[in-house]
Amino acid sequence: MSSTAKGGAKPTVTITLDGSNRSATLPLLAGSIGPQTVDIRKLYGELGIFTYDPGYGATASCESKITYIDGDAGILLYRGYPIEQLAEKSDFIEVAYLLLEGELPNAAQLEDFRKNVTYHTMLHEQIRRFFDGFRRDAHPMAIICGVVGALAAFYHDNLDINDARQREVAAFRLIAKIPTIAAWAYKYSIGQPFMYPRNDLNYAENFLYMLNAVPAEPWKNNPILSRAMDRILVLHADHEQNASTSTVRLAGSTGANPFACIAAGIAALWGPSHGGANEAVLKMLGEIGTPENIPQFIREVKDKNSHTKLMGFGHRVYKNFDPRAKIMKETCHEVLAELGIKDEPLLDMAMEMERIALEDDYFVSRKLYPNVDFYSGIILKAMGIPTSMFTVLFAVARTVGWVSQWKELIEDPSQRIGRPRQIYSGATRRDYVPVSGR
Ligand code: CMC
Repeated sequence: MSSTAKGGAKPTVTITLDGSNRSATLPLLAGSIGPQTVDIRKLYGELGIFTYDPGYGATASCESKITYIDGDAGILLYRGYPIEQLAEKSDFIEVAYLLLEGELPNAAQLEDFRKNVTYHTMLHEQIRRFFDGFRRDAHPMAIICGVVGALAAFYHDNLDINDARQREVAAFRLIAKIPTIAAWAYKYSIGQPFMYPRNDLNYAENFLYMLNAVPAEPWKNNPILSRAMDRILVLHADHEQNASTSTVRLAGSTGANPFACIAAGIAALWGPSHGGANEAVLKMLGEIGTPENIPQFIREVKDKNSHTKLMGFGHRVYKNFDPRAKIMKETCHEVLAELGIKDEPLLDMAMEMERIALEDDYFVSRKLYPNVDFYSGIILKAMGIPTSMFTVLFAVARTVGWVSQWKELIEDPSQRIGRPRQIYSGATRRDYVPVSGR
């Protein structure tokens, strides 16, 4: 394979098949930042060969203007804005506008967007009845996956994906209703009455209200905790072409309606390698029990035969500190201070684990650093949110990213149905033998 770009000509890559005189010259594409990308669309037509990349470690599946990650430098940008600036100075609704529309809103646009989202926070009363069909011990991810998919059965006026206005209303509905669905899934599991959304509160406050309030008592907003929740939502809002976002895009490429696509994203997020990791971190810390047991646990992680992973560590793209993890750690200290928690054994354990891992050659040589999920669980636990809701919270935040990526996909004229190929390694053609002859 060779690459050329002479005298202002567009750069190309030439692939030559060994042992033959056949070659294909393929365009080399450049984004605004990030590595160059070989456009292999004509490869099969010209040389009759596929490319192989399980896990998509070196494959760009689409062109996107939404989120950029430089994993080696530990940089995350939403529409060009560094995550650190957005986490400190912006809020979730403004970030949602930014991700969806591409620019920060002016005051009037922000107000209008806020109104549009709050207008849609309630659920159809019949949706309420779905919850009764679940067992009380159902995992809330199972509930939200089902209920979000079922929204398509209620909002027939938003199912024409080719109508820009319908896409817009579907986006508002999804972003507005997901906290209500998530909070009700929780209330159902603990047998408390559902709290209807309050549109006088901001997005994070309203979510905390629906999770924690009860009709019998007044609810008091704690600005430090709602600010922490808002920041958690901002940090999780989008993350380029991760597994759940790619799932949303793949489902969307078939023309499926937005509610079905987001339900598919929720399903993909659930796994412990992805959004389920924050729940898994707390489980892991609980099982380790005390700091003295950390060295033994680390030995287990390093033992190839144990299949034990240090949850909340490592990332497919970040080979440096996950910038979100740094902000999470600071937020964690703020929240614990606000709540007057001086000694939180889980935080002490997490920090000790981080210290040991960052000095250990196994983690250093593999560039394994804490990711966003390492500290988020400790904050959420301190805020009184049960472990089973951690991934749900991730889904609430990521809905805006999924919707933005879905919208971008539908509006991209080059989009086709996603249809990967394979290396077939099964049996070659053979003739059927009746059972009597086998
Ligand atoms: N603990 C121990 N070893 C690890 C870990 C870990 N957490 N992560 C990766 N490794 C090892 C892995 O075994 C491999 O070792 P070797 O080269 O000896 O075979 C090496 O590091 C490279 O890892 P990989 O499996 O090629 O990495 P990947 O890109 O396929 O997987 C990952 C990325 C996030 C799934 C993985 O790091 C992991 O399972 N981490 C724990 C789960 C977790 O915290 N997930 C949350 C990710 S951030 C939130 C989100 O975006 O969803």
